[in-house]
Amino acid sequence: MIRHLAIIMDGNGRWAQQRGLSRSEGHRAGAQRISDITEAAAQLGIEYLTLYAFSTENWKRPIAEVTFLMNLIPEFCRNKLPDMMKNGVRLRTVGRTDDLPAASKAALLDAVEKTRDNRKITLNLALSYGGRAEIVDAVNRILREEKKPEKITEETFARYLYAPDIPDPDLMIRTSGEMRLSNFLLWELSYAELFVSDLHWPDFDAAALKEAVSAYETRDRRFGKVK
Ligand code: IPE
Ligand code: IPE
Ligand code: MG
Repeated sequence: MIRHLAIIMDGNGRWAQQRGLSRSEGHRAGAQRISDITEAAAQLGIEYLTLYAFSTENWKRPIAEVTFLMNLIPEFCRNKLPDMMKNGVRLRTVGRTDDLPAASKAALLDAVEKTRDNRKITLNLALSYGGRAEIVDAVNRILREEKKPEKITEETFARYLYAPDIPDPDLMIRTSGEMRLSNFLLWELSYAELFVSDLHWPDFDAAALKEAVSAYETRDRRFGKVK
């Protein structure tokens, strides 16, 4: 059973390049995939879907691309809200969302608020997210808030992460073939099963998701123990 699926949505640029389109068109096509995959995940009984949408490193891309991606956020929130309401999708975010432009932040806050009672699946968007940033943000909060910061356990530490109520991902999928984490959920992925698909994100569909889930089901998760 997969309670939490995490996906690195990679390959929008390569998808566009193959078609002689701009990178922006690749990102728009990529954003369009999100609803289908969220629906397909919900059908499979997955409770939490975390999608890596923008990393702390992605701020170093050309300003025009960053601006385009930031403008996609309010567009996505506005266009997809009716579907999210209809399909019981609760929207959340993780990451340094304070760094996002005001319009993107406002649209996200509004959609998060409006979908808060939806119960079918939680769609958790990682935006201005970095695994190291998350760990450092947790340490700084611990220093501010913990009475005895010299006595930190793994359980205490995990309570200071961005989404302490969400269980660790069972499966992490990366599209577009690259075999790296790119600073995604460094703490939370410690025991996740990994699946890399050669499909670029705009081509990743429900059938591809099912293939990854079937592969997961054949894995023997030992957690360091002997069976
Ligand atoms: C993933 O696609 C989307 C983001 C990182 C925002 P890319 O833009 O990284 O696509 P490639 O890797 O250049 O093909
Ligand atoms: C990871 O993809 C980040 C997101 C999908 C949001 P990148 O394309 O930024 O990662 P690298 O540069 O290939 O490591
Ligand atoms: Mg990429």
